[in-house]
Amino acid sequence: MLLIAFEGIDGAGKGTQAKLLARWIREKGYDVFLTKEPTEGAIGKLLRKSLRTSCFDARTEALLFAADRSEHLREIMKKLHEGKVVITERYVYSSLAYQSASGLEMSWLREINSFAPEADLVIYLDVDPEVALRRISSRNSLRTSVREREHFERVEFLEKVREVYLALAEESENFEVVSAAGTINEVQTSIRRRVGRHLAAFEGEKKQGRQRALEDFT
Ligand code: TYD
Repeated sequence: MLLIAFEGIDGAGKGTQAKLLARWIREKGYDVFLTKEPTEGAIGKLLRKSLRTSCFDARTEALLFAADRSEHLREIMKKLHEGKVVITERYVYSSLAYQSASGLEMSWLREINSFAPEADLVIYLDVDPEVALRRISSRNSLRTSVREREHFERVEFLEKVREVYLALAEESENFEVVSAAGTINEVQTSIRRRVGRHLAAFEGEKKQGRQRALEDFT
């Protein structure tokens, strides 16, 4: 089984890089399921609304992200069982990074997400928050008018999120830190080099007919 998660702060380029990687893996003859969190399901929709309007507090949001993930995992596990390579844009590590940066306890966040298996590989796209926010505002003209203070608060928050991601990367073997500062092609080349090794191992696993035992999430 091969579950790849893309992580990083907003504007790191996860969507673009995940799509390019999926295309490359497909060209190699594998079936790929490309997905993301928050999902397009009922809980994911509620979360997006909460992110826009702040209608839930941080703890409720953390529980909703975990609930959305629980639903998402049923689909992910099904695809993995079918022998597909699964690429998810954001996974459990987003909850650990963002919700702990919002002030929630890391141990509690781990506990409410303990049902989620580790990804085989986490591609963490590392970028300076100022650079990332500049990318977002050039992509979405509405956000260019964001006031100075809001911008400053967002940068401060994303700096905290980045710190947690880097600490997670330091302590986890499955994390690959990829600098997202280069061009799209440079970043993609760097990602493919790291994924190549895992694809070779996945191929070996398939050949021997030894699919890792997967837990049932129903
Ligand atoms: P994002 O990837 O930006 O989705 P989209 O661009 O489609 O709106 O995710 C939305 C926000 O949700 C983003 O700021 C990160 C946040 N988030 C968390 O705080 N915790 C989580 O567990 C996840 C999955 C996302």
